[in-house]
Amino acid sequence: MNLTELEKLAQSGEKIAMLTCYDATFAKVMELAGVDMLLVGDSLGMVLQGAENTLNVSMHHMTYHTKSVAAGAPNTVIMADMPLGSYEHDDEAAYKNALWLIRSGADLVKFEGGGNKVKTARYLIERGIPVCAHLGFTPQSVNQLGGYKIQGKTDESAAKIMADAIAMSEAGVSFIVLEMVPAALAKKITESIKTPTIGIGAGVDCGGQVLVIQDLLGIYSGVSGKNPSDFKIPRFVKNFLHETNSIQYAISGYVHAVKNKTFPAQEHSY
Ligand code: KIV
Repeated sequence: MNLTELEKLAQSGEKIAMLTCYDATFAKVMELAGVDMLLVGDSLGMVLQGAENTLNVSMHHMTYHTKSVAAGAPNTVIMADMPLGSYEHDDEAAYKNALWLIRSGADLVKFEGGGNKVKTARYLIERGIPVCAHLGFTPQSVNQLGGYKIQGKTDESAAKIMADAIAMSEAGVSFIVLEMVPAALAKKITESIKTPTIGIGAGVDCGGQVLVIQDLLGIYSGVSGKNPSDFKIPRFVKNFLHETNSIQYAISGYVHAVKNKTFPAQEHSY
């Protein structure tokens, strides 16, 4: 399936199952399991590199992993994250970096934020680069946001996320990721815009879901060197390997659960 077909599928109301992916072996397993879209996320800074956050991920890391994923899943839509520092400063630099990701095998790029990033989204889209916006909790701003916290809890912050989603949708982005926002707000946003939303910790009413593959398999327990017992598994995570004992079935179980709306359940939502 190509990006246009996937956008149409999402607009027809089918839930989109997305997972993070960083290498060719997992990409192949995910393609066979029917995952709709693979995200080469800058979460690789945490789950592959053992860092505390995503702030030190570079364009070189992103293009290396995007090439690996593209080699393993030639028939699946691939989204690649633009890392911190690759898109905020000027639109021409954002375009060059986005192009580098596309030439590495991505079908579209994702970057964090609304507000003045709407202009950047337009700049890329006008030059033929499909974009996904990432709103709500934006991990690259973890220090400004005061940690891993739910966003959109106050009327003011909910209104800002809604306004950003509308502006990004009007700019022509292909998808909007909503991370760690109350399920009721994500539902309202999803119903207010044409662009499909993809939630992570944003409730079952988004147009699709995304999880980090290590979370789905229950194998991420925080930064190496820290005591694993200090690590608190986020509420939106579900271990699908528990039920199946097979990576292939855990992934296809996730795809089915997203499609039939049994994941996320209320216990995974805010
Ligand atoms: O990098 C990533 O894995 C992400 C998801 C959390 C959406 O951006």
